[in-house]
Amino acid sequence: MKPDVVAVTPLYQPVMEGLEAAYTVHRLFEAGDRKAFLAGVKDKAQAITTFGGTVNAELMDALPKLKIIACMSVGVDNVDLAAAKARGIRVTNAPDVLTDDVADLAIALLLGVARRIPQADRYVREGKWAAKGAMPLATKLGGSTMGVLGLGRIGMAIAKRAEALGVKIVYNGPRQKPGVAYRYYADLSAMAKDVDYLMIACPGGAATRNLVNEKVISSLGKKGVIINIARGSVVDEPAMVKALVEGKLRGAGLDVFADEPRVPEALLKLDNVVLLPHIGSATQATRRAMGQLMLDNLAAFYAGKPLITPVV
Ligand code: 8YV
Repeated sequence: MKPDVVAVTPLYQPVMEGLEAAYTVHRLFEAGDRKAFLAGVKDKAQAITTFGGTVNAELMDALPKLKIIACMSVGVDNVDLAAAKARGIRVTNAPDVLTDDVADLAIALLLGVARRIPQADRYVREGKWAAKGAMPLATKLGGSTMGVLGLGRIGMAIAKRAEALGVKIVYNGPRQKPGVAYRYYADLSAMAKDVDYLMIACPGGAATRNLVNEKVISSLGKKGVIINIARGSVVDEPAMVKALVEGKLRGAGLDVFADEPRVPEALLKLDNVVLLPHIGSATQATRRAMGQLMLDNLAAFYAGKPLITPVV
């Protein structure tokens, strides 16, 4: 008999097919009556899969046999890790396999904002090139300074790419990294004062909530651009929107937002921001690899082997 797994969210179709080949999948995201659905699986479900969907203590308590939460994402801010730990439930994520894609997208946003690529595309489509002539000039990227908030695997991959484009790199994080030549700032506001681009690449969750606050935003000031490929929760979003609307920030490139998929209305009207629908890891190859890692973690659990990428 196949083991029972509760799928909290939909998954990329090939991944869902892989999951269904090995497990009996119970689709919580399709349940009309959530309580009745959970009561029906509570005596058999030992595993949960999720792709960014919330897994809180209440859900864990509704599934008393639960032993593993397998996430198809690197970020686990949607899972109550303390509650999982307290209940002896293991949590796995999907790191590394998405690093290149997320870093590529960060560079696309950097260039998108600096060279105004989406605006230029609109300029052509709207017939302005023919009607008005050349577009207003943009900003040279090479020679600028980028401060990376969170020089982890993804932050480092972004830094290396940006360095190749002639960008000077500095960074901030909880501690200085041994063996890293980039200048370290212990204070985020001090770094924001010195950079043209603030690249947000740290994990989400309580520890980083609103780290990029009003003070940091005003330190970044009129010369500064925020690029965020991490989590919307890291930024005080209303303060950032206010600064952008009032012309107190040069621009922003955002792949993530505080309340996805809702994007603050005021941003939609601004010409100096580039807005993306959380697509950092959204390529077919990478989503397959993330899904495979999630499946491999589940298989390791059921085989009694060590988990491949455990978080808890
Ligand atoms: C997903 C991500 O798009 O892995 C992560 O942490 O942010 C992305 O790869 C996201 O988890 C979907 O909600």
